[in-house]
Formats: sequence, C-alpha cells, structure tokens
Amino acid sequence: MFETLQAQPADKILALMQMYKDDPRDIKIDLGVGVYKDATGLTPVMRAVKSAEHQLWEQQDSKSYTGLAGDPAFGDAMVQLVLGDAVPRGNVAAAATPGGTGAVRQAFELVQMARPDARVFVSDPTWPNHLSILKYLGIEVVNYRYFDDETRGVDFDGMLADLKTAKQGDLILLHGCCHNPTGANLNAAQWDDVIKVLQDTGATPMIDIAYQGFGDGLDADAAATRKIAAAVPECLIAASCSKNFGIYRERTGMLMAVSLDASAQKLNQGTLAFLNRQNFSFPPDHGARVVTMILNDDALRADWMAELEDIRNTMLGLRSQLAGDLQRLSGSDRFGFIAQHRGMFSRLGTTPEMVEKLRADHGIYMVGDSRMNIAGLNATTVPILARAIIDVGI
Ligand code: LMR
Repeated sequence: MFETLQAQPADKILALMQMYKDDPRDIKIDLGVGVYKDATGLTPVMRAVKSAEHQLWEQQDSKSYTGLAGDPAFGDAMVQLVLGDAVPRGNVAAAATPGGTGAVRQAFELVQMARPDARVFVSDPTWPNHLSILKYLGIEVVNYRYFDDETRGVDFDGMLADLKTAKQGDLILLHGCCHNPTGANLNAAQWDDVIKVLQDTGATPMIDIAYQGFGDGLDADAAATRKIAAAVPECLIAASCSKNFGIYRERTGMLMAVSLDASAQKLNQGTLAFLNRQNFSFPPDHGARVVTMILNDDALRADWMAELEDIRNTMLGLRSQLAGDLQRLSGSDRFGFIAQHRGMFSRLGTTPEMVEKLRADHGIYMVGDSRMNIAGLNATTVPILARAIIDVGI
C-alpha cells in the first residue's frame, strides 16, 4: 500500500533547524525557526509558567477529558486577552486547538465546509505553512502584494488594490501583528483602509495572531484584530500561546469565530467542536490550563506581563543595535528598516545566494527568503552578524 507514497517537500524552516544542529562549527548563529532565545541562547520557561505548573502539579486531581472545545475557562481567558471588550462575548465561538497551527488548520477546514469554492487571499509572502496547509486541503490561493522589496516596508497601494478584487465568500488572511516572515506591518490608518475594503467587498477576514505581545505590547498588538472584529459581521481569529507564553511544545492555541449574534455563535461553536472531534478529539490541556491560571491570577498575570515586556524590549534593543551597527559599517541608512520592523522577524531582502553565503562562510542560518529571527541574536552575536552582512556584500 504505502509504496504509492511520494516524498513530501521538507518544511524549509524545520529543515534549517536540523542543518543548524548538524553543523559542527563552534561559531554559528541560528536565526531560523521562530523561537525566542535569551542572552545565553536558552529558550526559557517563563517564571509564571513554572509557578502555574507547580500549582497544577500540587492541585490537579484528575486528567480526565475536558470538553471538545477545551476548558471553557480557557476560551473566556483567551477571548478576553485577544479581543478585550471589542465584541460581546456571546458572539464569539472559541475552541482550543493544538497550537496556532492547529487553529489555522481548523479555520481553513471550517471555511471549506461553509464555502467549498472559497478562495483564500494570502500576503506575498506569508508563513510557508499557511500555503502548505491550503495546498494540502486543495483550497484556491490568491496572493496579495505585501512586501516592498525597495523600502522593506509594506507595499500598501499594491496590497489594497489586490484586496479589492476579493468578493463575498472569499477569505482574507491577515497577520494581526508582527508579520511573519517580513516584520513589516500596517499602521493604524492603513488598518482602517483595510477594514473599509473588507466592508466594501464583503470578504471575510481571518486574522492570524501568533505574536501578540512581541511587537508594541499586548493591547497595541491586538488593536487591529479588535477593530476588525468590531467592524465586520464575521471574522475568524487563530491565536497562539506558543510565543507569548513560551510554551511552544505544549501546543496551545485557540480558534475564534466572531459572528453577529448568539444564534450564529451557537452554530459556529458546535461546528468547531465537531471539527476538533474529527481531527484529534479533545485538544491538549496542559498548556491551556497553565495559560488560564496565569490570566486569571493577578500576581501570575502581572509577572507574566513583566517578563513578556522584558522579552519584547530585548528584541527591540537587538533591532536598534543591529540597525546601528549596520549603519556604521555600511555608512548608509539602508538597514534602518530593521529598527522599524516589529516582532521576531525581519526580512533582510536579499537573494537566496547571499543567504547561502552567510551560512557557508559565517555559520549564520536564516530562512532562504532572508527572514532572520531577531530573537535568535544577543548583544555578542549582533556585531558578528552585522560584519558578516557587510562582508558578503549585502
Ligand atoms: C516560525 O515561523 O518559525 C514559527 O512559527 C515556527 C513554525 O512552526 O514554523
């Protein structure tokens, strides 16, 4: 039977992780997969997560099943974290998923169930796994212009023109903050223009918000998502706790479907539970429970927010250090965009050949499209990277 299988293309990001591990050089820098690392190169367990896990170990007296959509308390906590008071809670269906990727997958399946002919508009570029999942599900993809190779900012006119070609029954996938892979984001006025296009076309937005708290702060990063949710009749939101709680391997995410009224919410909630049952039955609980405990306990929440702010400010510091070093070494402002970008990533905007040269000559690993994980740097490796970038002639 299985001899009929064909080898599948390796995920570029995960393949890079392996190449880095296999590289025997002493000096090498991993700017590949989107994982935060502290100054010592460690991806730490956050303090509040440790405390909550400790409490959980002491207090948890059963590991029996929760609900198909996860513990409702997790749903409430996440809806509040992402949406605040933007829409009535009773209008939001929420289902826990295995990580943000699980939420993305469930969202696309939901769309396919509702509208088998839906097209999904995705930014060019987008997170490669968006494209991979869409292809796997056989959903038609339409690219919209996003990254401006010249400015390394958003090609907003191009984006808007392309989004205007969407119609009712289409889905427009947006990155709520900290665009992956480019790091280039819309400003508030531009988000308002996007909302206008959503209203004019009737297309449904889906917001992937995997990095809330990594850009300009927890509320600022959710501002566009909240505004969109309040401005259109329906929207989907795929949220992840992998990065902002640092619980990558616990696979903790949440799919939300916002609708206009409670009866649509009921139908959505039932459908999300059904989809979970078909794909994996009950979602993972450990990370979700830890997140719920943190969000519902004043002291744990304050400690978590403080540590998240430290992480965010560390990344901002690394951005300005790198932009500053490159300004000095190149004698130009052409790398200023690195300080303007937000989130874990910046797209350097160079060729795959240059990316390969950085790897071969300097042991610097970044994704082939020149996406660098800023959080993979530290104060010592920034100057090494800056010199290497100039050395290879970028
Ligand atoms: C990334 O983009 O590096 C992360 O979201 C990790 C992943 O699963 O690809």
